[in-house]
Amino acid sequence: MYSKNVPTSFPKDFLWGGATAANQIEGAWNIDGKGLTTAEVVKKAENHHTLTMNDVTKKSLQEAIDDKTDVNYPKRRGVDFYHHYKEDIAMLAEMGFKAFRLSIAWARIFPKGDETQPNEKGLEFYDRVFEECHKHGIEPVVTISHYEMPLNLTLKQNGWASRETISEFTKYTRVLFNRYKEIVKYWMTFNEINAIQGGFTGTGALDSQLSVSEKAQVRFQALHHQFVASALAVEQCHKIDPQAKIGCMLARMQTYAKTSDPKDVRAAQFQDQLNLFYTDVQVRGEYPEYMNRYFKENNVELKMVEGDEAILKQGKVDYLAFSYYMSNVTSAKQDVEKFSDTFIAGESNPYLETSDWGWQIDPVGLRVSLNEFWDRYRVPLFVVENGLGAVDELTHDGKVHDQYRIDYLRKHVIQMKEAIKDGVDLIGYTTWGPIDLISASTSEMSKRYGFIYVDQDDSGNGSLKRIRKDSFFWYKQVIASNGDKLE
Ligand code: BG6
Repeated sequence: MYSKNVPTSFPKDFLWGGATAANQIEGAWNIDGKGLTTAEVVKKAENHHTLTMNDVTKKSLQEAIDDKTDVNYPKRRGVDFYHHYKEDIAMLAEMGFKAFRLSIAWARIFPKGDETQPNEKGLEFYDRVFEECHKHGIEPVVTISHYEMPLNLTLKQNGWASRETISEFTKYTRVLFNRYKEIVKYWMTFNEINAIQGGFTGTGALDSQLSVSEKAQVRFQALHHQFVASALAVEQCHKIDPQAKIGCMLARMQTYAKTSDPKDVRAAQFQDQLNLFYTDVQVRGEYPEYMNRYFKENNVELKMVEGDEAILKQGKVDYLAFSYYMSNVTSAKQDVEKFSDTFIAGESNPYLETSDWGWQIDPVGLRVSLNEFWDRYRVPLFVVENGLGAVDELTHDGKVHDQYRIDYLRKHVIQMKEAIKDGVDLIGYTTWGPIDLISASTSEMSKRYGFIYVDQDDSGNGSLKRIRKDSFFWYKQVIASNGDKLE
């Protein structure tokens, strides 16, 4: 009779926690030597819910540079984690966090990106943050580049469109690995590397005036530079701190076929490959064949330098991290083989509910994705973002009853547990925005994800007071029971 040990729940050392990004929480955009970043020139939406993250033109960029306030640029103020980090980390510790994912603002370390020496004051800030995490027994999980870069690199060389940016990044990562050797055990290179598909936020390159096919050329070339930079960082990290683990990070878009018509199934398969292509390169160390045809048919000619392929092979990641918020539906009606310059697309799924922002909520899809990743790659997996963006109300007695968030998270935790029982090697779960922060796509404050409410509105008014929501107490019990008590 065949019998083998089947895990029944989360492993003992499972990394429960939450995830943030520097440009969405820190604030302090122009102090202690920090330079202006690409995230800080993206305007607040004039209409609620409007996506603004890639709406940057030469003209709007100049306006942003001339504007020395944070009024129209919420990512300049974040939620002032820079001055509240002790209080915030203590609250995460109160929930029992084992891990806290945060990013380092490149422009705190190299304000313009092209200096020869790092900004010591910037490094000292992260020294203090990591020290505070360790004091509470929390493992920092660090993203090296989360949707931002020093703006000077955009002005000087059009961001990642230029190959020169690789060496600036390599200089930055070398400083980080040396400084935080044995302090940071988990690194990841680029947040949601597939965000290049949407433009500026992912690439730091200004291309909004170009045609769709010209955009494809710029974006995939920028991506190639990021792939090389990421692989070089993996190699550096392994050399400098052999105990550390370094991963890639993908925005996972699980794709389903609209019907069982084989044409729809094929369209969905290819749409899914277009999502998995990024991890194919970073986990397997080479471009998959199906992309060669896609590049050819979309007139993309990647400029590679001799040695690039060897670098990609050498710099395979240790684990695969991903964000998971929604799934997608595709039919043959969509021409998936043609490059699309939007990041989130697809058709609606009649079986799923959506968030107030139209994101299709699909907990089972998380189990599907986990199994798919595990089957395909056989490397440890880490869910580093998942959560519900919602408008929360502070009641007159100063509470936030966010049962909808608890329901959302509970359903996803149940599916992760099922995936673990399926045999998937899942090492952790960091929910998005454990403390309310500025939305990446809309720059709103009112799109909240946190267990901790921050008293600040879309215009930056408020006391910045931190308040525990109902979900705070729920997550605390989930962590304490290692995922067993979910009610
Ligand atoms: C991910 C990003 O795409 O989704 C985060 O890595 C972002 O930076 C999160 O905040 C949620 O998106 P949004 O637009 O609701 O903030």
